[in-house]
Amino acid sequence: MTGDAILGVENLNLRNRAGELLVRDVSLSLRAGETLGLVGESGSGKTLTLRSLIGLLPEGIRETHDARLDNPNCAMIFQNPESALDPLCPVFRQLCEVVRVRQKAGRDEARARALRLLRRLSLPEALAKEDRCPGSLSGGQCQRLLIAMALACRPDVLLCDEPTTALDVTVQKQTLELIRSLQRELGFAMVFVTHNLAVAAQLCENLAVMQRGRIVECGPARQILTAPREEYTRMLTAAILPVPERRR
Ligand SMILES: Nc1ncnc2c1ncn2[C@@H]1O[C@H](COP(=O)(O)OP(=O)(O)OP(=O)(O)O)[C@@H](O)[C@H]1O
Ligand SMILES: [Mg+2]
Repeated sequence: MTGDAILGVENLNLRNRAGELLVRDVSLSLRAGETLGLVGESGSGKTLTLRSLIGLLPEGIRETHDARLDNPNCAMIFQNPESALDPLCPVFRQLCEVVRVRQKAGRDEARARALRLLRRLSLPEALAKEDRCPGSLSGGQCQRLLIAMALACRPDVLLCDEPTTALDVTVQKQTLELIRSLQRELGFAMVFVTHNLAVAAQLCENLAVMQRGRIVECGPARQILTAPREEYTRMLTAAILPVPERRR
């Protein structure tokens, strides 16, 4: 781990109940303000790695590692926005609760700050008055609400687990732009999990490529995307389809 890392882990191993290794010898480190992309096939261990970084491993998963540096305040945006919210609790109340607990604010102050977050994320202020539950929000609105809840934790590091996969392409683009502008404004570092190498290229300075629980290649995003060393990474980059030209 480099000296100026604010978050990192060395030789992380994760096993299931049967003792099978799901994540093998993963080492990652992150500097303040940096964005690290984590890419790789489904089931390669990206979500488990993020969950380990924030200390929220699912039951039955055991962890060993050699060293860890995890003091900064982390927040995580999960893969499926709807399932990360309590379906029966009004969304504004859920946001206020996070502000109240994480910012140690009183009830009225938490409400005022939660309202400011709604505005910053272009969510309707009516959400604060109407007691609406997650089921009545669009997918894009749910995702922005989750981003608001993550920001309410005032994170030094934001862990994003495919935050746009469940959204349609135009909303994906808006959500990515929003995350980028929030990062510029607030300066948090990010670990950004995505299947989409084009997204990774836009967002990340560094990339780590995972396959079957291991990091098979890692380094500057530009270098990995233009001159991948590993066969698996070459296959991933070759899988970016060129946009066909339309015949006139
Ligand atoms: N709660 C769990 N209990 C047991 N095994 C799990 C659990 N969660 C994930 N796994 C297993 O660990 C491996 C890595 O899963 P993980 O969810 O980290 O993959 P991923 O890279 O995030 O995939 P995807 O891109 O599909 O989200 C998979 O084999 C998965 O079946
Ligand atoms: Mg995942």
